[in-house]
Amino acid sequence: MSQIRIGIVISTTRENRFADKPTQWLLKQIENHPELSAELLDLRAFPMPFFDEQTAPAYAPPRCEAARRWAARIAKMDGFIFVTAEYNRSIPAVLKNALDYAYQEFNRKPAAFLGYGGVGAARAIEQLRLICIELQLAPLRNAVHIAMEQYLAVLNAERQIEDFHFLNTSALSMLRDLSWWARALHVARNDGATSVPDAG
Ligand SMILES: Cc1cc2nc3c(=O)[nH]c(=O)nc-3n(C[C@H](O)[C@H](O)[C@H](O)COP(=O)(O)O)c2cc1C
Repeated sequence: MSQIRIGIVISTTRENRFADKPTQWLLKQIENHPELSAELLDLRAFPMPFFDEQTAPAYAPPRCEAARRWAARIAKMDGFIFVTAEYNRSIPAVLKNALDYAYQEFNRKPAAFLGYGGVGAARAIEQLRLICIELQLAPLRNAVHIAMEQYLAVLNAERQIEDFHFLNTSALSMLRDLSWWARALHVARNDGATSVPDAG
């Protein structure tokens, strides 16, 4: 295996979103990990309507063109980092909708998380981990949480994310964990010994 392909899912789409700041910081952190190659999966580029397919994507590909493009991009990845806010203690609806539009493409791949907002979006990320289980993703423990104090300092342009050293440390732990799982699961997916069970 050459480089591990990591899809960074930007999970909010509104104008003036904060999401771009942690995403750019994360890309810089990934530069310190030559084993990883990162690609942005910005949900703005996949404008999917509220789910309106005849069949769950676990059983048949979606008809929606944007969803087909989304699934095709996911299929190429070895793992994911979800950059997410917390909307009313949960994940943004646009992210849930996007997750509903794919299935096999996510199976047996690791998912890591970067959250921002109150308590570092920990409540949203816990819910996201549960959703990942149904998609047969492997949700990882080590995450980055940009809590309210740091969020406000960055939002108000008083500080930059890299000023908070503990966040750099969190990113390092998360990326090491993600590299290990992505490589291990890539090997396991390709050895033919273990097939992915059908969705039941
Ligand atoms: C609909 C909505 C609900 C929100 N609910 C929460 C919440 O439950 N917890 C929280 O910490 N922040 C909440 N916020 C504030 C967000 O953390 C903040 O607006 C953040 O910048 C949103 O991410 P975005 O800028 O990438 O869209 C909410 C924001 C919106 C728009």
